[in-house]
Amino acid sequence: MNFLELCKKRQSCRDFASMPVEREKLVNCIEAARLTPSACNSQPWSFVVVDNPEKAAAVAQATMQFGANAYIAAAKAFIVILEEHAVLMPKIRGLFDSQHFAQNDLGAAAMSICYAAEDQGLGTCILGLFDREELRRLLDIPAEKRFATVIALGYPADGTVRPKGRKSIEQIARFI
Ligand SMILES: Cc1cc2nc3c(=O)[nH]c(=O)nc-3n(C[C@H](O)[C@H](O)[C@H](O)COP(=O)(O)O)c2cc1C
Repeated sequence: MNFLELCKKRQSCRDFASMPVEREKLVNCIEAARLTPSACNSQPWSFVVVDNPEKAAAVAQATMQFGANAYIAAAKAFIVILEEHAVLMPKIRGLFDSQHFAQNDLGAAAMSICYAAEDQGLGTCILGLFDREELRRLLDIPAEKRFATVIALGYPADGTVRPKGRKSIEQIARFI
């Protein structure tokens, strides 16, 4: 499958099969994240990979505490992305706050994980809604550490690719 085909196939998975996810595939997802570019190569990220079934069930509960994400209960693994201190090059550091580019870097790492997962037959759903304090407690994450996102993973129960609701190229890009 070429990369554009992979982009068309990736979609937020909200119906996970009961099959567990192999640890090796999760390691490959982290390897893809590790290779992601970042401002000044600062790599302002760390990852907590949850594939223990009891812990994964508890993390799923923490993503459902706002009455959303009920479908995540069936996810078999989670990758929690944390923001770390970015060390920028001195010249750049004089112009911007150290964390100025971190959000971009973390978003890029999240997408590397999603595409690496898709490439291995896994479904993903990026989650912005979750109970941060409950996750801190469950995963022993220090109070000062900032969360980026949580990615739910598992094998999709249904491989049907939904039509994508997206703006057209004409709406979003100018070629000059
Ligand atoms: C930062 C971010 C946070 C998101 N949070 C949630 C969430 O909490 N629950 C959920 O079901 N989907 C969540 N999504 C998934 C988006 O709704 C989804 O990516 C978007 O509607 C496009 O659909 P697609 O991923 O199937 O192409 C999130 C996506 C992003 C990028």
